[in-house]
Amino acid sequence: MATLWHGRFDGDPADDLLAFTVSLPFDRRLFREDIAGSRAHVRGLARGGLLADDEVSAVLGALDTVESEMAEDRFTFAVSDEDIHTAVERRVTELAGAAGAKLHTGRSRNDQVATDLRLWTKSALTDVAQRTLDLQRALLTLAERADDAYLPGYTHMQQAQPVLLAHHLLAHGWALARDVDRLLATRARTDVSPLGAGALAGSSLPLDPVATAADLGFARAFDNSLDAVSDRDFVAEALFDVALIGVHLSRIGEEVVLWSTDEIGFLALDDAYATGSSMLPQKKNPDIAELARAKTGRLVGNLTALLVTLKGLPLAYNRDLQEDKEPLFDSVEQVALALGALTGMLTTATVRRDRMRAAADSPYAAAVDLAEWLVERGIPFRDAHAVVGGLVRDALRTGGGLADLVAAHPALGSEAAALLAPGVAVSRRTTWGGAGPAAVAAQLERFRDRLEVDAGRCAP
Ligand code: ARG
Repeated sequence: MATLWHGRFDGDPADDLLAFTVSLPFDRRLFREDIAGSRAHVRGLARGGLLADDEVSAVLGALDTVESEMAEDRFTFAVSDEDIHTAVERRVTELAGAAGAKLHTGRSRNDQVATDLRLWTKSALTDVAQRTLDLQRALLTLAERADDAYLPGYTHMQQAQPVLLAHHLLAHGWALARDVDRLLATRARTDVSPLGAGALAGSSLPLDPVATAADLGFARAFDNSLDAVSDRDFVAEALFDVALIGVHLSRIGEEVVLWSTDEIGFLALDDAYATGSSMLPQKKNPDIAELARAKTGRLVGNLTALLVTLKGLPLAYNRDLQEDKEPLFDSVEQVALALGALTGMLTTATVRRDRMRAAADSPYAAAVDLAEWLVERGIPFRDAHAVVGGLVRDALRTGGGLADLVAAHPALGSEAAALLAPGVAVSRRTTWGGAGPAAVAAQLERFRDRLEVDAGRCAP
């Protein structure tokens, strides 16, 4: 069998070796990047006088053929094609003959695979960022539609203070904005070409990594050839960014699960975005939300797997690095699916404002407003807290209305009792970034601006 290294070896590789070491089943998705890298390398060889014009056109022509064969699923892989780089080079040599045999001049699969993966990751990060923006847009649309709807805000899962629904939705939106920012920062650090690092030390041939980097659309070339072939920080970062998106989606998912229960009932899912039960005819289940919650374990696992693979690896390339691809491909694929499904589920869900309002209108949710009303009249907050706390305790103990106790209290009275009326508390959250109508209107404006700016930054 014709391996890339057959010259130095006496016999063929063992079947067990091939079975254990091949990466073709998962790295064949890098074929476009591999061919793009080869085209740039061929042009670099030509600039260095290492390929004549007719050789350049023969190899570039063969690369075009290989690309269409692979894109159209007409490519016949050979048993000896252990990875995508081997497959492309083998076929180019078949098609272009002697000129094809010059393709790998001054290049190693070590700088080649790092180049392919950086190209792939750059566009994957762009795609994930754009899908994250789509979910942010869905949250914005829901927030705009929510108008003056409000619901209880919770701490410790206990009702705390009412908040506008728009405020609650945008809280998730801002977390996603940080995700987009992180993806773009990772993309900038990924945008470095390793091509020309060779196996580990560069080359004796007249090659110019800086020119090749520009040819491939990279922002710059590597500074150190050893680092160029060893570095998988960009994969680790991409996996972290995606895992944290997963964490954010799991929190949205958990909320949707709770909100669509019969007991809470703040949200009704559209039939197209819910599932039924094979046994219980009445069931409507939030499976997308549950899987958004669950997939996060896998995303965190992929990040962990790569970090453990990288830990303690000596410079420079080691075959261990081949284990970078499956976690990355899997995380990107899963997060893309999760973002799409959540966007659809949220866009089509029906908000039950009546249920939200009924839950938020408990007079106890306005307790701090009573204390702040006393503060405005010169009472120290700690004393005001104690007065209102005592009234809450009495109301709970006697089962009487808090409003009556407030109206009857010498320091409070009917003006204070009016603060407990439905809808009043939420309107009093007036400070910057707060949960009331004016603050949320200003926040919506900022969020829209941010989305517009980020849409521009997320262009490929
Ligand atoms: N399939 C390998 C990988 O994904 C390509 C590089 C192999 N290089 C080598 N010297 N064995 O990492």
